[in-house]
Amino acid sequence: MKTMTTQEGKTCKPQRIPLNAKLTVPQLQNAYDEIADQYEKRVWFDQHVLGVARLKKKLLSKANGKVLEVACGIGSNIPFFPVGSDITAVDLSPKMLEVARENVTKYGLSVNFAVMDAEKLEFPDGSFDTVVSTLSTCTFPNPIKALQEIQRVCRPNGLILLLEHGHSSIPWLANYQDRHEYQHYEDHAGCRWNQDPLDLVRSVGIKVLKSKRNILGMFHSIEATS
Ligand SMILES: C[S@@+](CC[C@H](N)C(=O)[O-])C[C@H]1O[C@@H](n2cnc3c(N)ncnc32)[C@H](O)[C@@H]1O
Repeated sequence: MKTMTTQEGKTCKPQRIPLNAKLTVPQLQNAYDEIADQYEKRVWFDQHVLGVARLKKKLLSKANGKVLEVACGIGSNIPFFPVGSDITAVDLSPKMLEVARENVTKYGLSVNFAVMDAEKLEFPDGSFDTVVSTLSTCTFPNPIKALQEIQRVCRPNGLILLLEHGHSSIPWLANYQDRHEYQHYEDHAGCRWNQDPLDLVRSVGIKVLKSKRNILGMFHSIEATS
């Protein structure tokens, strides 16, 4: 397969839907604002039956120090961080954050929330010991830009924890994903479900320490460093 070159001159496999896919940042914000109230129900099966929540819990328990969660959605990851973590969490959608605020109040936790674009994080270089994102590089219009930002705001040798889904390692399922990529993109607020998260992470120079595929070869638990 031909490779493509990033702005930094690194190579990665071409993603099947262009990296600058057709939903713009404001369109994505609207799309998530609209589904914020039903988001928990929409993902219930994946979280609790497929076992995504279990994977997130295991990965995020490794966070330490000052933690940033990028694209935190409705805040369902917050209880998975070690007790007493100093957490900042950002998302593009004010409505998703509204639900997140209600949820953390319910859990009795305290988090600094802010509306922010993952592709333009408003933090100085090296601000966090751990930077986390789950199920979001598939949605960012430009995942390379967002991963570069994640790398930039993580302190040198800090921890980057990503739980991302992508192209299955099972051929029939990967084919199914390819055949339905546009339908999935339309039905799931701009989600590219057949991209390769590890390729993207490596293409920006984030150093992968450990990665494991789970759930039909589609989900990647990635521990990395800036
Ligand atoms: C599939 S949801 C995942 C939410 C959460 N991380 C989880 O695992 O449940 C994707 C989230 O990414 C957010 N998002 C999409 N594009 C973004 C961007 N450019 N910057 C910040 N957040 C973004 C959406 O608002 C949404 O909350």
